Amino acid sequence: MNEISPRRKFIAVAAGALIAPLIPFARFAQPAEANSGGPAAPADNSRQSQVTGTARKGDSVNNWRNPMESSMKSSEMGWNGKEYVLPPLPYDYAALEPHIDEATMRLHHDKHHLAYVNGLNAALSKLAASRESGDFAAVKHLSRETAFHGSGHLLHTVFWNNVTPGGGGEPSGKLAEAISESFGGFGAFMGQFKAASAAVEGSGWGLLVHEPMADRLLVMTAEKHQNLTAWGVKPLLVLDVWEHAYYLKYQNNRGAYIDAFTNVINWSDVAARLV
Ligand SMILES: [Fe+2]
Repeated sequence: MNEISPRRKFIAVAAGALIAPLIPFARFAQPAEANSGGPAAPADNSRQSQVTGTARKGDSVNNWRNPMESSMKSSEMGWNGKEYVLPPLPYDYAALEPHIDEATMRLHHDKHHLAYVNGLNAALSKLAASRESGDFAAVKHLSRETAFHGSGHLLHTVFWNNVTPGGGGEPSGKLAEAISESFGGFGAFMGQFKAASAAVEGSGWGLLVHEPMADRLLVMTAEKHQNLTAWGVKPLLVLDVWEHAYYLKYQNNRGAYIDAFTNVINWSDVAARLV
């Protein structure tokens, strides 16, 4: 029925997410909950039915790798070889306490991230049905759904691995050198990263990315997350500043949450993405 291979399907999703910001109509209407800190809830049971399980570390379902995240196994990326799945956290829900609280982690991972997974699978399923029937009346909406949920799934999967119990401090090695060369030092980088993340209007992300043309690092922000700001960049460090990521513990004090985040950054994971 669906003749597009899983690899090509994901590339299409990633490309859609990356293309969105360069389309003048990228600031399209959001699902109802988009600005309240999370993705739209599943509209019907068909979305829930898209989720059939979760990947586990070490799964050898396939050897496919996300072209944007070469350091991550496909299972860690939330793909089981057939459909997108909610990847398990690589630590306990309470492991990031007191910096990021258990209740937030449970809500963030189990509800918000899962909704992105369901939404992505549902959108792709409906697009497959459109190709089969030749009825593309909903293609604009489904393309947006794919970008919205696909970006949410991808970035959250990076985010869970970007943090770790006992994290924080400063990176070393190649990443430290790249940060120094690109920003003039770790302190200068972190100053820009934290300020940029705090300044995101509404929901979105702060990102440290690699720009391959100049082989340098950049700090970017994404308002919402389907509106990534450049083609070809690879997220190294992502900071979720949607309210659902911090509101239970930090309410409207995003700055305090950002400071807490720096105490759990998994610099080894960030460095592994700089290949
Ligand atoms: Fe989030």
